[in-house]
Amino acid sequence: MNYYNDQSTKNYPHAFLNDVLTGLSRSERYIPPCWLYDDVGSKIFELITDLPEYYVTRTEMSIFHKISSDFAQIIGPNASLVEYGAGGAVKARIFLDAFIDPAKYVAIDISFDHLEKSLNELDLDYPDLHVHALAGDFISGTIQTNLEHETQRVGFFPGSTIGNLTDEEISQFLRRARNYLGEEAYFILGADLKKSPDILIPAYDDAQGVTADFNMNLLNRINRELDGTINPERFSHKAVWNEELSRIEMHLESLQDQTFEVAGQTFDIAQGDTIHTENSRKFQRAELDEIIAKNGWEMIRYETDQDAHFAVMLLKAA
Ligand code: AVI
Repeated sequence: MNYYNDQSTKNYPHAFLNDVLTGLSRSERYIPPCWLYDDVGSKIFELITDLPEYYVTRTEMSIFHKISSDFAQIIGPNASLVEYGAGGAVKARIFLDAFIDPAKYVAIDISFDHLEKSLNELDLDYPDLHVHALAGDFISGTIQTNLEHETQRVGFFPGSTIGNLTDEEISQFLRRARNYLGEEAYFILGADLKKSPDILIPAYDDAQGVTADFNMNLLNRINRELDGTINPERFSHKAVWNEELSRIEMHLESLQDQTFEVAGQTFDIAQGDTIHTENSRKFQRAELDEIIAKNGWEMIRYETDQDAHFAVMLLKAA
């Protein structure tokens, strides 16, 4: 396996400190969702994907199983699959199994640690595949590793992580991916679709409290890494459906008027006020068509489950 470290990787932990101090100083407190995923947060997220209420992962996987050989026929032999935010590489295996003589798997993630564990196994299971791990910030950084252009390049961004990005980040990401993957590239994209809040709210506020732990871990992380004095028991997890912006919002709601410190700086928060920690946008087909067309791609397949809860798209470089 080959490892590359991209120069543009966020300057952690400085970037974390900066995002937290800036985010807590705003009148509408907001800390970007990328900071939910330290080692503990990533493990809790894995548990979320198995929850009965969290339909996202199993619905997407069922679509992948249904369409992978169709996509593989369109894409053709000798593919290089480039996964953004690779995590456990479980989903990529479905396509690597379906592809005709896949050449390469490039896993891009913000942290090497995360990649190393999951890719060693993949390397053993696919002896003919070249496995590359690339640590870099694929949203705001520029990925500098060369992809051999004689292979068929295929981007892969599953899980509806696109729904956690701002509009600007989505455009930046899709355009950069288009430039990086080049002419003739394909892209497999997963996106969660708009549906009843009766399904959405429990998916982000489950009965066992796993999503609450995931959200609350951010406070523990701030305490651990940034000299925070936050008492997590004074906050509770809140999942809110924002109809106007078609998104689930995760917040940490303050249960009382309180004061705490982060890196020596003091913050006050009133009872009922929140720290906004994540948006999870739920898309409609027309919005996806527009986003894709204006950012350098053409949609050539749009597949959903029978309840139209989730969409998996095959895009081609325009
Ligand atoms: C990673 N991402 C697509 C998840 C989502 O559904 O927006 C993160 C998540 N947050 C709470 N539950 C899951």
